[in-house]
Amino acid sequence: MKIAVFASGTGSNFAAILESIKSKKITNVEVVLLVSDRPEALAVQKAKDERIPVHTFRAKDYPNKQAFEEEIVEKLRQRYVDFIVLAGYMRLLGPVLLQAYDRKIINVHPSLLPAFAGKDAIGQALDYGVKVTGVTVHYVDEGMDTGPIIAQRVVFVDSDETKDSLAKKIQGQEHQLLPEVIQMLVNSEAVKGSSK
Ligand code: GRF
Repeated sequence: MKIAVFASGTGSNFAAILESIKSKKITNVEVVLLVSDRPEALAVQKAKDERIPVHTFRAKDYPNKQAFEEEIVEKLRQRYVDFIVLAGYMRLLGPVLLQAYDRKIINVHPSLLPAFAGKDAIGQALDYGVKVTGVTVHYVDEGMDTGPIIAQRVVFVDSDETKDSLAKKIQGQEHQLLPEVIQMLVNSEAVKGSSK
């Protein structure tokens, strides 16, 4: 299974996927492209260090979302990408990508959806004062963190929790859950493929 990872930020989830592949914690998966809307993102540097091909762009250089998504789809097809993982990609996907990769795009979000969708989910959870929060991996649709849920992990919020300490706990769970879900989906795709 050839996957592309989309990231706008530090890329710690991207690194966790690469690490899981290297350590053979997950198998039959190859990251063939990193896509980023921020050429200066740390994730891009990580990809270059690991010699993973990169496609970067700046949305403002295109007339609209359709234009930059058409270019992305072309890059994905050139590399025979089967599956897309959004790992800190800070944009809503448009119809071009959603239709090209229908039910083949997942996202990781740092809360137990549907609670605390959107930006700064960790800050939202702390401000609300919840005692449990967590991580969700879900299919992507046109909404903001609204697609069908695939898997969740719970994280307990301690009384002296800070944003940094909570972020660390949540990221620790993300780095385990996301590769596990990828493996699960790869296995089920393999089953589907072999029955054709
Ligand atoms: C993660 O917390 C993920 O849940 C959210 O964006 C963050 C990306 O972090 N969607 P990183 O770039 O993988 O470190």
